[in-house]
Amino acid sequence: MKKNKKEYLISMDNNLINKQYIDPKSDTFEKVVFLYDSAIKELKTKIEILQDEMKLFYGYEPIESISTRVKSSESILKKLNTKGYEPTYENLFEKINDVAGVRIVCNFKKDVYKIAETIENMQDVRVLSKKDYLKTPKKSGYRSYHLVVSIPVSFSEGTMYVKVEIQIRTIGMNFWASLEHKLKYKNDSISKGDSKSLEKYAKVINSIDDGMFTIYDKMSDDNDFLYLDAADDEPNLKKFKFKL
Ligand code: GTP
Ligand code: MG
Repeated sequence: MKKNKKEYLISMDNNLINKQYIDPKSDTFEKVVFLYDSAIKELKTKIEILQDEMKLFYGYEPIESISTRVKSSESILKKLNTKGYEPTYENLFEKINDVAGVRIVCNFKKDVYKIAETIENMQDVRVLSKKDYLKTPKKSGYRSYHLVVSIPVSFSEGTMYVKVEIQIRTIGMNFWASLEHKLKYKNDSISKGDSKSLEKYAKVINSIDDGMFTIYDKMSDDNDFLYLDAADDEPNLKKFKFKL
């Protein structure tokens, strides 16, 4: 498929004036939210299918929870302002990657990479960027795997590619990120000492993550699988693995 940077704006021009300023109370804004909401629905279904498949075929559920949100109009306007962009619909589409957000919380790091790789390889999903904050944590101590993708959504006028930010992390990483966010939100000027403590706790959680996986890994048995071709006429497709 040919990649076209502007393709995710297909058919928008008919309905919206891209240079127009965002008005959160307008019908236009409601339509924009609908586009991102629809992309979230599509992606969430794909992830739920993955979870169901892995449960049925391998007897293992890698995902602990999936949460989604469309960014509020206040946050959108605040982010555009902080980044120095005019509050236009065009800038909303082009400059903000996390208008639609999906967070996938997994059991172990291995599951984070498995889910990330699977999403990256989905035929119809386009990966716009990826950041591995497991391998290279942020200075704060933050760990997570981030993907910005565009998801095809079929509307009456045709297919539109809509951007979604996906954050994939372990339960441990989510515990840290949720509380750290709350602490920083409550207190903008967190002290150096407290920041250091938070960074230290992130490392402690990371070693717990590794320790828990070591225990799990010792217990899991990798025998008794049946392999079947995914499709007769497509020999290049991977084989499906059934747990017996
Ligand atoms: P922005 O969304 O503008 O920050 O873009 P960016 O390119 O800096 O994105 P990045 O992938 O670094 O972070 C995007 C999102 O990850 C944020 O909106 C947060 O949800 C989350 N995040 C990043 N850093 C931290 C952190 O230190 N603590 C917490 N709790 N969340 C973080
Ligand atoms: Mg964000």
